[in-house]
Amino acid sequence: MNVESQNTKPSYEVFRKKVDGKEVGFIEIERTDTTPPYIYVAGLSVSEDFRSGGVASTLLEKVEKIIKKENKIGFLVNAISGPGYALYQKRGWRQVENAAELYVYNVPAHLSDKELSRLFYSA
Ligand SMILES: CC(C)(COP(=O)(O)OP(=O)(O)OC[C@H]1O[C@@H](n2cnc3c(N)ncnc32)[C@H](O)[C@@H]1OP(=O)(O)O)[C@@H](O)C(=O)NCCC(=O)NCCS
Repeated sequence: MNVESQNTKPSYEVFRKKVDGKEVGFIEIERTDTTPPYIYVAGLSVSEDFRSGGVASTLLEKVEKIIKKENKIGFLVNAISGPGYALYQKRGWRQVENAAELYVYNVPAHLSDKELSRLFYSA
């Protein structure tokens, strides 16, 4: 699948999925300069007519590859009851203890959930 990339601000990057030249979904990430640095999924949305067709999975997969390649932690915030819940769980993202709205990916073993919360919420 071809996913187009577009830089906005220096630390932001947006990937867009187009069908017949029309945008049907996007994912936006922010690279932080925290210690350790992480990648935050700032937005993920798919047009209603194109949902349940794997567009979000493809966009997320693209970002997961970047997270692994750059050896960073992935963060995203998701309302527990939202449709993203199953999507993220299925793809190996997990909720942080005592911060259930916070999902993480590719976390180094030595970092505790408490440290993850502190890293995200104090940034
Ligand atoms: C959440 C959203 C991005 C999913 O996009 P999508 O392209 O339809 O997702 P996919 O087709 O890749 O679905 C992947 C998995 O996500 C889950 N999923 C997607 N939509 C779902 C829904 N409405 N209810 C429950 N689970 C859902 C399913 O587990 C699905 O796997 P399956 O097809 O094997 O059942 C889309 O519904 C959306 O844009 N919603 C509004 C904005 C939003 O909630 N964004 C997420 C904020 S964190």
